[in-house]
Amino acid sequence: MLKLKNLFLCMLVSCVYIATLSAQQTTYEMVVNAKKPGAVIQPTMYGLFFEDINFGADGGLYAELIKNRSFEFPQSLMGWKTFGQVDLRDEGGPFERNPHYVRLNNSGHGHKHTGLENEGYRGIGVKKDADYRFSVWARSVDGAEQKVRVELIDADSHPFQRQEVTINSREWKRYEVTLTAPKEEEKASLRIFLVSAGPVDLEHISLFPKDTWKGRENGLRRDLVEALDELNPGLFRFPGGCIVEGTDLETRYDWKKSIGPVENRPLNENRWHYTFAHRLFPDYFQSYGMGFYELFLLSEDLGAEPLPVVNAGLACQYQNEDESSHVPVDELQEYIQDALDLIEFANGDPTTTWGKVRAEMGHPEPFNMKYIGIGNEQWGPEYPARLVKFVEAIRAEYPEIKIVGSSGPQAEGEQFEYLWPEMKRLKVDLVDEHYYRPPEWFLNQATRYDSYDRKGPAVFAGEYASHAESRDNNFESALSEAAFMTGLERNADIVHMATYAPLFAHADAWQWRPDLIWFDNLLCVRTPNYYVQKLYAHNAGTNVLPLTMNKESVTGQEGLYASAVIDINKSEVIVKVSNVSEQDKTVRIRIEGLRRGTKLQPEAEAIVLKGTPEMTNTLEHPDAIVPISSFLPVTGMLLDVTAEAGSFNVYKVGYTGN
Ligand code: AHR
Repeated sequence: MLKLKNLFLCMLVSCVYIATLSAQQTTYEMVVNAKKPGAVIQPTMYGLFFEDINFGADGGLYAELIKNRSFEFPQSLMGWKTFGQVDLRDEGGPFERNPHYVRLNNSGHGHKHTGLENEGYRGIGVKKDADYRFSVWARSVDGAEQKVRVELIDADSHPFQRQEVTINSREWKRYEVTLTAPKEEEKASLRIFLVSAGPVDLEHISLFPKDTWKGRENGLRRDLVEALDELNPGLFRFPGGCIVEGTDLETRYDWKKSIGPVENRPLNENRWHYTFAHRLFPDYFQSYGMGFYELFLLSEDLGAEPLPVVNAGLACQYQNEDESSHVPVDELQEYIQDALDLIEFANGDPTTTWGKVRAEMGHPEPFNMKYIGIGNEQWGPEYPARLVKFVEAIRAEYPEIKIVGSSGPQAEGEQFEYLWPEMKRLKVDLVDEHYYRPPEWFLNQATRYDSYDRKGPAVFAGEYASHAESRDNNFESALSEAAFMTGLERNADIVHMATYAPLFAHADAWQWRPDLIWFDNLLCVRTPNYYVQKLYAHNAGTNVLPLTMNKESVTGQEGLYASAVIDINKSEVIVKVSNVSEQDKTVRIRIEGLRRGTKLQPEAEAIVLKGTPEMTNTLEHPDAIVPISSFLPVTGMLLDVTAEAGSFNVYKVGYTGN
């Protein structure tokens, strides 16, 4: 009996084995037609969307470590603790648009102290042996020499570095000392106290790492810019997002306030401090320290086309249903002029009004801006009614500038259906689409652009991210984006730009997730979604090639999604395959149509990004999911691969002689 049972078991196992074997033996043949390179992949195709959300700018990319450095938050001492005799004053300060400053008075007793302490953005992160530039605008009230002590305090309240600053003038002057951190501390604070008789006035108290991106003084966090640079972006959209619109027009992003001497840039409210009642951040403001000049400079550093977005005369439509919240159509001139002046600021000769401002800030050469966005997520007839005025004015003065219009906040539905024809009617150059949807939506939408009108404006997939149920940046979301992006690539004739959103999130201060890059005060982590973007951007190719399986585009059959490009400059055919199924898939890639005499290189590079659906990268384990490269043999015009279950693969095949 036992023997029979064993035999039966054996037979069962063999049957399963044979079935598995035969399932494994199904070979899916994908044919890449390399005869004629198709649509050009625009250099702007894979880009970045930057917004000051999730402490992305202040407390993030902008390397300033002091929160409320100019005492301009509505609660003037927010972020600060004071002790002893500190007065807040607003008359006689050095900066007209930032009038507040503090006066440190004598404590009245030799054993008492007067001073203040800043908590930073969820703490101040300092690295061991790194140098930090402390600076302050100060004056001695009675002209006598005064001293303040500056200390870094660790999370246990122990000072671990100190320097003294001597204030030797009755006039406002900038003073600077270097603090070198003897140890790493993620959540330090900065203490300043009077060590002479006083009184002394202090304003614009600042602390920057010296090791910023390119060592710039009003600089950006080096590790975060490196993460952006590594993505090889072709486009850099800024400054949002909803902060373009503002909760009301008063709080819209006003680029003119974000340029000029940094000490005199006025504070703006950041709408993300109260957008979600369950995630309130009452200390979230925009210092404009990283303003439009710095953002253009960053685009230039990254080799990405800048795409600034300006307000269309509409406050956030989610929060303002009443027409009176917006600028009346016949009073738009100031907003239109802002757009025209922005183009002059970016591109104008230093003899022009705004070109001169740029030159004086250190960039006499133009930034060569080619695109401008008008409005963010706008909808209803109120949007085209305003947009048309901008289009007319920009076309008249700057016909070479390409204009980006909005299709609203949804990827389909009434507003979307209304706005696309309107954008065509107004002849904008690109239409910005936004979609934050579940992974299944992304899979279903891999064919989204196959049937788009080829004669209308091009598509800018300006904000998108796959939102898994957990809202984690997990591999399930990343893989669905990779699958979806085969559809962007296949339709590169009309999809000219695509930017994942949002870009950054501070682990202790986020409002929205998922996000491409997470960070704390010291570290950052590249998500699986980041690696998908990176793999596309680094393997963008120059032209689309048709790729078919059974004569059809590969858009989900058997859980497979695929697209192909050729890189004429590198003599490479690049095939991207996502396998969202639970089985490994044997795929034969056949490259056809290369000229006679052309040979494929004997080995192809295979880069795989793979994980289980719920896997993520974390600050503690940043490399759980990273691309892994290997090499595979090429036989004639064939490449045989296994696209593993739940994987995104990039195959790169070089050729000679085409
Ligand atoms: O990316 C986050 C927000 O999503 C953007 O600010 C807005 O445009 C969209 O609603």
